[in-house]
Amino acid sequence: MTTFKLHNGVEMPAIGFGTYKLKEGKECYEAVKFALENNYRHIDTAAVYENETSVGEAIRVSGIPREELFITTKVWNPDRGYASTLRAFEESLSRLGVGYVDLYLIHWPANTKQFGDAKALNAETWRAMEQLYKEGKVRAIGVSNFLVNHLEDLLENATVVPMVNQIEYHPGYLQQETVDFCNQHAIIVEAWSPLGRGRVLEDPLLVQIAKKHNVSTGAICLQFALQQGICILPKSATPSRIIENYSVDFELEQQDIDAINSMPETGFSGLHPDEVGF
Ligand SMILES: NC(=O)c1ccc[n+]([C@@H]2O[C@H](COP(=O)([O-])OP(=O)(O)OC[C@H]3O[C@@H](n4cnc5c(N)ncnc54)[C@H](OP(=O)(O)O)[C@@H]3O)[C@@H](O)[C@H]2O)c1
Repeated sequence: MTTFKLHNGVEMPAIGFGTYKLKEGKECYEAVKFALENNYRHIDTAAVYENETSVGEAIRVSGIPREELFITTKVWNPDRGYASTLRAFEESLSRLGVGYVDLYLIHWPANTKQFGDAKALNAETWRAMEQLYKEGKVRAIGVSNFLVNHLEDLLENATVVPMVNQIEYHPGYLQQETVDFCNQHAIIVEAWSPLGRGRVLEDPLLVQIAKKHNVSTGAICLQFALQQGICILPKSATPSRIIENYSVDFELEQQDIDAINSMPETGFSGLHPDEVGF
């Protein structure tokens, strides 16, 4: 299993299983259980996905020792702030039914469009994240959807540099400025929607590169991210795809990488962290 080492030494599996849109109950439980039976050891959930209970059940049923798993969850936006983040964390822990979380993330930065002092609010949320980390309730802490301006503000007051930044990342939406900033600060980037939630899979350039390597376009997206040192979190409720997404086993050539780097914007979700109203 390939892992990325976070700046505090914690090893994080490079391929995680995304769970957004997997409904609490049978759908999420079955998908996570199947993923764990098929080599995944890293599960990405969030309070707002409302499926932490099913993720927890699948983990327990798997019988896999807790220390072999890497579980991520996230504090949702209305719970920003010091006391409410600490409370939200305990609620997630209880729904998951685990003693600790491997990675806890701020799901979205507060932005200035919604908050007069977004910087102070993000700093307060981060103070709670640091508290959880220092108490040993989480093995690593990080952020999600933080652009360079949010990271710069956060680092002004942080005593712990985030270990991870989870951002939208797929061919056609590479957010290079943010990735470069993270690389300079030893923050590992995780790709959400690494398949562009399906929106990039018909792209003619990606189809052409896939044909050349005799793999699917999805595999091109996933391998591209991995070759850039970026963790991938593909989601699927389909057993064959769950297996396929973990089985990427080929190398892209430099000319493929250059071509993907030059793609025009394609498949952007439309969710810009400075613009969103949630
Ligand atoms: N931090 C954030 O703000 C944020 C935002 C979005 C997502 N995320 C995380 O990132 C994870 C992944 O992102 P995502 O769920 O948005 O999108 P994604 O993983 O890029 O795409 C998932 C979609 O692609 C389909 N799919 C999966 N594997 C495929 C394959 N091999 N070939 C063709 N289609 C395939 C899935 O369909 P089926 O399920 O029907 O197979 C599903 O519709 C999420 O689940 C979540 O954990 C985080």
